[in-house]
Amino acid sequence: MEKHVLALQLSQILGEEFSRDWVYEHIETPKQEKMGDLAFPCFKLSPALRKSPQDLASELAPQLKHDLFENVQPVGGYINIFLNQQFMAEHTLKQILTEQENYGKHTFGEGKTVVFDLSAPNIAKPFSMGHLRSTVIGNSLANLAANSGYETVKINYIGDYGTQFGKLLSAYKNWGDEEKIRANPLAELTKIYVKFHEEAKHNAELIDEGRQWFKKLEQQDEEALRLWRWFKEVSLEEFEKIYQLLGIEFDLTRGEAYYNDKMDSTVELLKEHQLLEDSDGAKVVRLDEEGIPPCLIKKSDGTTIYATRDLTAAIDRFNSYSFDEALYVVGHEQSLHFSQIKHVLNKLGFNWAQNVKHIPFGMMLQDGKKMSTRQGKTILLENVLKEAIQQASDSIEEKNPHLRNKETVARQVGVGAVIFHDLKQDRRNDVEFSIEDMLRFEGNTAPYLQYSYVRAQSILQKGDFKADASTPFLSDEKAWSLIKQIRKFPEATAKAYKEYDPSQIAKYLLDLAKTFNQYYTHTKILQGAQQDAKLTLVYGFSLVLKQGLSLLGIEAPEEM
Ligand code: ARG
Repeated sequence: MEKHVLALQLSQILGEEFSRDWVYEHIETPKQEKMGDLAFPCFKLSPALRKSPQDLASELAPQLKHDLFENVQPVGGYINIFLNQQFMAEHTLKQILTEQENYGKHTFGEGKTVVFDLSAPNIAKPFSMGHLRSTVIGNSLANLAANSGYETVKINYIGDYGTQFGKLLSAYKNWGDEEKIRANPLAELTKIYVKFHEEAKHNAELIDEGRQWFKKLEQQDEEALRLWRWFKEVSLEEFEKIYQLLGIEFDLTRGEAYYNDKMDSTVELLKEHQLLEDSDGAKVVRLDEEGIPPCLIKKSDGTTIYATRDLTAAIDRFNSYSFDEALYVVGHEQSLHFSQIKHVLNKLGFNWAQNVKHIPFGMMLQDGKKMSTRQGKTILLENVLKEAIQQASDSIEEKNPHLRNKETVARQVGVGAVIFHDLKQDRRNDVEFSIEDMLRFEGNTAPYLQYSYVRAQSILQKGDFKADASTPFLSDEKAWSLIKQIRKFPEATAKAYKEYDPSQIAKYLLDLAKTFNQYYTHTKILQGAQQDAKLTLVYGFSLVLKQGLSLLGIEAPEEM
C-alpha cells in the first residue's frame, strides 16, 4: 500500500513521462533503518529532467504529502520517507485479522493453468538427490502458483523407458535374484545394472544381449514386458515411501512409456511440416537457424528417443489442459534438450511453445563432482531423510522427552531440514551434498524457523490470545521492524513466483524470524500496556511464518 501511494503521488507530480508502475519499480528500501522506510533514487530522473539528483530530491520532497508519511527528507540525491508507524501498525494488524490465511495470497493467476513437470525419477534406480531437487523446487513453485490463484497440475513423468532397460533385463537374466529384489528393489536392481557395465567392459557380447532385450521390449515380448512391469511396480512403491515422507502428492503420475504408441503421429506431423531430415540414417530436425545442434527424433535403428517422447507429451499436455504455462523443473544439464523441444514445437507452429519453460537447477555435487548411478556412488535419499528424522528424534528425546506426537514432530523437523537446505539457495547454483549442513539445527535452517514458530505459539497460549477482528492500538517503537517485515510478505510471494525462485521465500522467512526473535528479546510481550496489540503482532508473525513455510512444503509443528 505505502509503495503504491508513493508511486501514485510521485508520478502525478512528475507528469505523464513517468508512469506509476515505473516509479513503483524504482522505489527502494534503505539499507539502514535510520535512513527511512522507503527511498526514491532521484538520479533515475536526472537524465530526462536534466537536473542533478540533489536538486530534484530537494524540489520533490516537500511536495510529497500523505497521512501515511511522517516525514519526507531529501538526502544526497534520494528522497527518504519515514512512514507513520502508528497508522501502519494498526493498518497491518487489522489487515491480518481480517484476511487471516489469505494474507499474502494473490489473484493475478486466476483463470490460468500452469502444468508442472517435476520429480521424474527413473525406475530401477535409486531416487537421486537431483530428483529430490526437482521434487522440492517443483512442489514449492506449484504452491507459489496456487497462492497466486493459478490452477496447477503436477505431473510426475517417470523415466520408465529407453535402451538402458534392455541392459537391465539382460543383467536380470544373468544375475537377478527375485527374492533379493523383492526385499530391496532399487538397491538390488542398481547392483545388477552396475555389474552389467563392469562385465561389459571385457565382454562385448553382453552389450549385444542388452540390445536384443531392448528390441524384445519394443516388440512387446511377453517376458520382457512382464519383467519391465515388475521393475516399474516395485520402483514406484519405493518412490511412494519418499513422497509420503516429503508430504508431496501429484495430480498425475505417468511414465515415458505411455507415449510409445503415440509418437507416430508426432513423427507424421514433423514430416507434414517438412522438418524431418536424414542424418547418417537417423531422422533429425535441424536447428541451424537457432544456432543449436539438431534434435534427434529417430535413431538409425528406427527407435525413438527421449526428445520424441517429450514432444509428444508436450502436445498431449496442451491438448488436455490448454495450459498458460508449462514448467519443466529439470537439472541444467538438460538445457539443450529443452531448448530443442521448444524450438521444434515452435517450428510446428504451436504458438503455445513460447509458454513452455525449462526451470533449470544446479547439480548436487559430492566432493565437487557429479554423483552418478553407474559407479554406484549415489547417496540414497531415503537414507538421508531417515537419518534426518532420527537426529530430530534424538534431539527431542534430549530436550523435550514428554512432547506429544513425538514421531510426527521428528518427521516434520527432519524432513523440513532437508527441504530447506535445498530451497534456501538460488536453485541455479550447484549444491555440495553435506549431511552435516543439512541437519544443522541452528543457523539458517528449517528447525530454526520451526522453533521460532513454536515460541510464538507458546506466547499466544500463555497470553490466552483470541484472534478476533477488533483492531488493537499498537504504539511500540520496537515493533516497527517486525511490522515492516510482515508487510513485505505479499510482495515476496508474488515475486518468488514471477521469478520462479523459492529461495526468496526462504530468505524472507529467515529475516522475518530474526526480526521476531529480536523483538521477543527486547519486549516483555506478556507484561505492561497494550498486551492485546502485542499479542496480535505475535499472531501476525506466526501466521505469516506458517504460510511461508507451507509455501516451501515445510510443516510447522505447534510444539517441539
Ligand atoms: N527422468 C529424467 C531424468 O531423470 C527427467 C525427466 C524430466 N522431464 C521431462 N519431461 N523430460 O533425467
